[in-house]
Amino acid sequence: MDKRPIGMFDSGFGGLTVARAVMDLLPAESLVYVGDTARYPYGDRPAEQVGEFASQIAHWLVEEAGVKMVVVACNTASAIALDRLRGELDVEVIGVIEPGVRAGVAASRTGRIGVIGTVGTVASGAYQNRFAAEEGVQLACAACPGFVEFVERGETDTDQVLVLAERLLGPVRGAEVDTLVLACTHYPFLARTIAEVMGREVVLVSPAEETAFEVRRILSDSGLAAPAGNEPWHRWLCSKDPGHFAALGRMMLGPELASVERVDWEDL
Ligand code: DGL
Repeated sequence: MDKRPIGMFDSGFGGLTVARAVMDLLPAESLVYVGDTARYPYGDRPAEQVGEFASQIAHWLVEEAGVKMVVVACNTASAIALDRLRGELDVEVIGVIEPGVRAGVAASRTGRIGVIGTVGTVASGAYQNRFAAEEGVQLACAACPGFVEFVERGETDTDQVLVLAERLLGPVRGAEVDTLVLACTHYPFLARTIAEVMGREVVLVSPAEETAFEVRRILSDSGLAAPAGNEPWHRWLCSKDPGHFAALGRMMLGPELASVERVDWEDL
């Protein structure tokens, strides 16, 4: 039994979809969440830089915040930096890609699966490589630059997002997928718009729930779960504008996002 918190990070609000799923499945676990809002979006940045940011935050979570495991609640950082973080840290590190693939395969009836993510995630080939190991899957990928910025501004349901979605989702619609993996943790906040464009017959899959199951499995296998009935606490940090993060984050996650601290990274 281990009462230390779980650490989690993303470029901003997106990882809150994973935080919510973990909090719902594991209500006794405490959590430290970092949203790197001063440096989002990660998806358009060079891979080396995303790797540096991810390493810096993950080290901070382990060494300063004392977390017992790290959840990379960002597809871009998972695609680019998961192996590096596993090599650098002596706690368990998990990402969202493997859970995303599993959830996509489980949901699809025809094997025609779409993946949408940031430019960085799609360009990394991480989903393409992982799905290649699955028999009978025909994959269609599309990068959706601009989606993350709409979410960070809290514009999840406007005409502008709809117009952008109609344009960017063209390739996955054209491929007649029956399942669409939302391979950016920000995208579930745009689910209504994405569903409207894709049509009712396409199942939208978020890796968040499957990631939470993975966290539960690892904690229980390694004897690191918090004792049942533990009173959890949640610590929220961002690197820019904690007022905005608190106000919008609370609408997205719920009342547990009570107050937000600011963390200042040294320039990398
Ligand atoms: N939530 C991040 C992801 O899953 C967004 C990356 C970004 O900041 O562009 O990829």
